[in-house]
Amino acid sequence: MTVLGLVGSACGGLDTRFRAELAAPAVARGWRPAITLTPTAHRWLDAAGELDGLAALTDLPVRSVSRLPREPRPHPDPAVFLFAPASANSIAKLALGIADNQALTVLGDVLGDPGVTIVAGYQVQDSRLRHPAWCRHLAVLAEAGVRVERLEYGKPWSAVLDLLPASTG
Ligand SMILES: Cc1cc2nc3c(=O)[nH]c(=O)nc-3n(C[C@H](O)[C@H](O)[C@H](O)COP(=O)(O)O)c2cc1C
Repeated sequence: MTVLGLVGSACGGLDTRFRAELAAPAVARGWRPAITLTPTAHRWLDAAGELDGLAALTDLPVRSVSRLPREPRPHPDPAVFLFAPASANSIAKLALGIADNQALTVLGDVLGDPGVTIVAGYQVQDSRLRHPAWCRHLAVLAEAGVRVERLEYGKPWSAVLDLLPASTG
């Protein structure tokens, strides 16, 4: 199965929709998820009792913290990443090159690599679109080759899986 780097951040609905609408459908499409969560996303999914169900979908550990220097890297290097749901906060930090958590570290490590596909499905309130730097953040990511799409309200998040290349699994 092809590894999919699945990175989630703390957007509304994460606690009920991340597994049901992203992780499980990705597995059904033949992907092997390497899941990395922001610390807040991890806390929300932990509080919702979702982490065991997520872990059961993949043989790879669900990550949210960095490894210790002497520990082996827990995930292989995916050639395809889905960053969804992507919060305004994490989109901005990724565009600026901030890597202050494991989720942003894995994405920042591959951003701009022509051999790696990144699809980012962001969910933000309309008020966020008025931030003067927002359009620049999206443009920076697009210039780096990221396919950036807004998750549409009322549509299942799994729609964003259609933007990934075909899994060879
Ligand atoms: C219930 C709730 C729902 C939220 N929904 C969103 C959202 O859909 N999109 C967003 O950009 N931020 C949302 N936020 C704000 C983010 O969770 C907040 O900016 C957080 O710092 C993001 O952290 P992360 O990007 O490291 O996961 C929400 C916050 C709460 C408490």
